[in-house]
Amino acid sequence: MHDTLLLFGATGDLASRYLFPSLVHLLRDRLLPEGFRVVAVGRTPHDDDGFRGWLRERLHDEDGRNHDALEDLLSRVRYHALDLQDADAIAAELSRYGDRPTVSYLSTPPNLFAPACRGLKAAGLLEDPSRLVLEKPLGHDLASAREINATLRESLDESRIFRIDHYLGKAPVQNLLALRFGNTLLEAVWERRWIESVDIVVAETAGVDGREGYYADYGALRDMVQNHMLQLLALIAMEPPASLDADSVRDEKRKVLRALRPMTAADAVRDSVRGRYGDGVVDGHAVRGFRHEREVETFVALRAYIDNWRWAGVPFRLVTGKRMPARATEIVVSFRPVSHWLYERPSRERAQPNRLHVCLQPEEAIDLTLMGSLAAPEWGATELQPLTLDLEMSPAPKRRIAYERLLIDALKGDQTLFVRDDEVEAAWQWIDSVSAAWQAAGTPVEEYPAGSWGPASAAPFLPTVTGANGKRR
Ligand code: BG6
Repeated sequence: MHDTLLLFGATGDLASRYLFPSLVHLLRDRLLPEGFRVVAVGRTPHDDDGFRGWLRERLHDEDGRNHDALEDLLSRVRYHALDLQDADAIAAELSRYGDRPTVSYLSTPPNLFAPACRGLKAAGLLEDPSRLVLEKPLGHDLASAREINATLRESLDESRIFRIDHYLGKAPVQNLLALRFGNTLLEAVWERRWIESVDIVVAETAGVDGREGYYADYGALRDMVQNHMLQLLALIAMEPPASLDADSVRDEKRKVLRALRPMTAADAVRDSVRGRYGDGVVDGHAVRGFRHEREVETFVALRAYIDNWRWAGVPFRLVTGKRMPARATEIVVSFRPVSHWLYERPSRERAQPNRLHVCLQPEEAIDLTLMGSLAAPEWGATELQPLTLDLEMSPAPKRRIAYERLLIDALKGDQTLFVRDDEVEAAWQWIDSVSAAWQAAGTPVEEYPAGSWGPASAAPFLPTVTGANGKRR
């Protein structure tokens, strides 16, 4: 395991909210190597102690139990204030860390990837076996993603590049693979003959606050669908890989992404809704709408189709939005009705389809809806009811920040949960077709009140969402 982490963007929001807290937890649980050290790089001027004080304040009391681990982390941190555009300064300042293999983590805007790589390369910090970790956004469209990939390739090869999609670090996301490939029962029916539709919903109560500029450029399509939601789709839809090694899994995901049917203007009218939240009430608090001169969405609903043998004709409904009434990340797989219905009660039309329901956030839960008849009927004929089979793990596993797993894997060199160049490009290719279709069709950005489930026209895209209160809509 590599033991030197160079963290660019160390004074940024992601670092103080997720990366440093993850490192504290990993140190507490003794999961990091003996000589582990962090070289923090940011633009804000601090000396080592100044930075440690700044960080202590941010991480202080984050969990009450982590005091010793936090102090341990701080003792391992050095800080360098650097202009990240300045490759020469990066090289001059950081070359001293080339004594051991390093993992450089660029938690910076993508325009800094190229100068940072030049500086790191000149400092000898990208020599084999050192590695590079990158945060999203990995481009704004296919052309810019290709450019980023080409720049990276000049400095090191793909086997040492780790592109983060933090959804892949979430334990329930990994569980999707376990469910599919660890169970005869599911894999046998995992195809168009038995599955009618798949819903993937990522609803957030948070707004775009503090990130207005970024959001106006990206919108929900690029911020959420291109990465997190398409990764979930790929894991649900991919063919069984021959093994769990990084490239076998990523080969299969890439095939799914490449089989996504490009959206046309005519499809866009039928298969998409864009929305932007206006004023409203979320969690009992009045919130202001997102206003910007640019036509950009904070809500998107899409019907996607995968043109291959397994999924031909099965709609994958993807819905994500900010300022929704509940935080809920859910996947619902709805199975087709049985071929011949024997019962009067309920009628065939009123019978519920079998559904596999995987809730990833805020609670982790998996349940399966089946039809059965447990109650003895008094009136002489069998009446079917939906029964819910709850799958619960006992004792519940310790919840970890997604970044804990990803940091460990990057230090160990396991790429399975990182996104490969061709996957990123395949995802952008489809996203580009959606934004071109929106342009050609003039798809409007409809306003919805904050605290609602998006524009009224999106209701058909949300047939199954549960929401945090556990009640189906
Ligand atoms: C980020 C997006 O990648 O994911 C944010 O930029 C979004 O807009 C976040 O809020 C959601 O992540 P999580 O883990 O809270 O579901």
